[in-house]
Amino acid sequence: MSVGADTVEAMDPAIEAIDLVKRFGDHTAVDGVSFAVPPGSVLGLLGPNGAGKTTTVRMMTTLTEPTSGTARVAGYDVRAEPDQVRRHMGLTGQVATVDELLTGRENIRMIGGLYGIRRRALEKLGDQLLQQFSLTEAADRVVKSYSGGMRRRLDLAVSLLASPPVLFLDEPTTGLDPRSRSELWEVLRGLVAEGHHAAADHAVSRRG
Ligand SMILES: Nc1ncnc2c1ncn2[C@@H]1O[C@H](COP(=O)(O)OP(=O)(O)OP(=O)(O)O)[C@@H](O)[C@H]1O
Ligand SMILES: [Mg+2]
Repeated sequence: MSVGADTVEAMDPAIEAIDLVKRFGDHTAVDGVSFAVPPGSVLGLLGPNGAGKTTTVRMMTTLTEPTSGTARVAGYDVRAEPDQVRRHMGLTGQVATVDELLTGRENIRMIGGLYGIRRRALEKLGDQLLQQFSLTEAADRVVKSYSGGMRRRLDLAVSLLASPPVLFLDEPTTGLDPRSRSELWEVLRGLVAEGHHAAADHAVSRRG
């Protein structure tokens, strides 16, 4: 995506990987990865199975500590300020983490409640997100009855509840049919247009 040079230079990167290394015993899974993601953009990490994409995302999201190097997310260092990093990011993993026995709306209420969003604000935001992800009609059905694509969309909706400026997505379209895939990318493009930015294996980040 093209961004005016002024815009890029004026803003710190939303995400910055600085010589990230991860070793598991003798095996080097990530061997000195550096990149920067400007605000309001999407970065895709591409590579074959086992290339180290998930490991890189895990280091950037404070789920695993780098062997060396570091990363900054929304300006916060993953080693020095992991709590701040978590406060400024959303993550959807390779496997959807929503509760199958609850409805879509109940999942939103539960997670939003954990974030401390007030009841009335949460109802409004929940309705907005359900609409945005085309889940309004299914909102009061248990997630167990959702298709894979609907679960993914709910997962993404839930990860946006706290309005994180940076969103990490690990293979958000895996297991989706071509139509659900293109719908999901449509939603992500919409988020970026709204001002979110992203690094994908997949991540999005948005202007705070
Ligand atoms: N906890 C772990 N312990 C030991 N080795 C690991 C661990 N996690 C990942 N690895 C190894 O690190 C390498 C990178 O794995 P990673 O999951 O990051 O790859 P990936 O690029 O996400 O692959 P995929 O496309 O299959 O999701 C692999 O060789 C994997 O076996
Ligand atoms: Mg992976």
